[in-house]
Amino acid sequence: MGKPCDLEGKFAIVSGAVQGIGQSIAELLIRNRATVVSWDLKPVRAVGLRASIVDLTDPQSIREALADIGSDQRIDMQFPQADLPIMLRQRSGRIVRLGSLAGKEGLRGLAVCSAASAGVIAFTKVLSREVTPENVFLNCVAPGPIETNMIRSLGPDVVTRMIRDGPMGRLGQPEELANMVAWLCSEASCFNSGAVFYMSGCRARHRAAAAYCLTDAGPPEDRVPSTCPG
Ligand SMILES: NC(=O)c1ccc[n+]([C@@H]2O[C@H](COP(=O)([O-])OP(=O)(O)OC[C@H]3O[C@@H](n4cnc5c(N)ncnc54)[C@H](O)[C@@H]3O)[C@@H](O)[C@H]2O)c1
Repeated sequence: MGKPCDLEGKFAIVSGAVQGIGQSIAELLIRNRATVVSWDLKPVRAVGLRASIVDLTDPQSIREALADIGSDQRIDMQFPQADLPIMLRQRSGRIVRLGSLAGKEGLRGLAVCSAASAGVIAFTKVLSREVTPENVFLNCVAPGPIETNMIRSLGPDVVTRMIRDGPMGRLGQPEELANMVAWLCSEASCFNSGAVFYMSGCRARHRAAAAYCLTDAGPPEDRVPSTCPG
């Protein structure tokens, strides 16, 4: 097993690498000696980062970006899954999808985001079963609020409420998320595929005990599980 997070000789595509979470991921992968290409709507200038203008909602734009990389380039890590056929052909690769805690909890006022993220989570679970036997590992990181322009654009009132509602009393930092992503791409993470990691600062709730409360009135230690499958 190599050193944790040593990515020397690895090639990564990072989408949305111009700012926020994607930028932190790209910077950390570069610091860990990976070669990184940014796929973003906007151009990016950063030391060691190759940039392509790509619209991830446009299949033609993705095809052109892949052609730009070249058919004989190995692709070791990526953060959409546009180049999955290449990874399957080379029989190795790491894909990390970004979901959101909203996809697990269903956050009030965020119906579209919650539904989209739940889709990313389910997609990860299904596709990982298909590609893991080919040595392509696919995981999802589903964070709570991370301090980026996207969150700041919600306005100070919303951000203050988010901070107040979180048990750690703060937002997550993009670098904290990047560390988990880099680890998932490294040799140190060799038994994870199809997993969803809720990096939420203790916001993610696990409600398995709810069925106890519905049926039993005694103190928790006296309660027996109900037959409720949920
Ligand atoms: N910040 C959070 O709290 C948080 C929480 C959960 C999930 N997420 C998800 O993480 C991802 C990144 O979030 P962020 O906060 O860093 O966002 P951000 O707005 O700070 O950065 C997004 C980046 O993606 C690029 N981009 C947008 N649309 C694109 C497209 N069609 N094609 C190519 N590039 C495009 C933008 O140019 C920008 O550089 C988003 O998918 C977001 O939903 C963020």
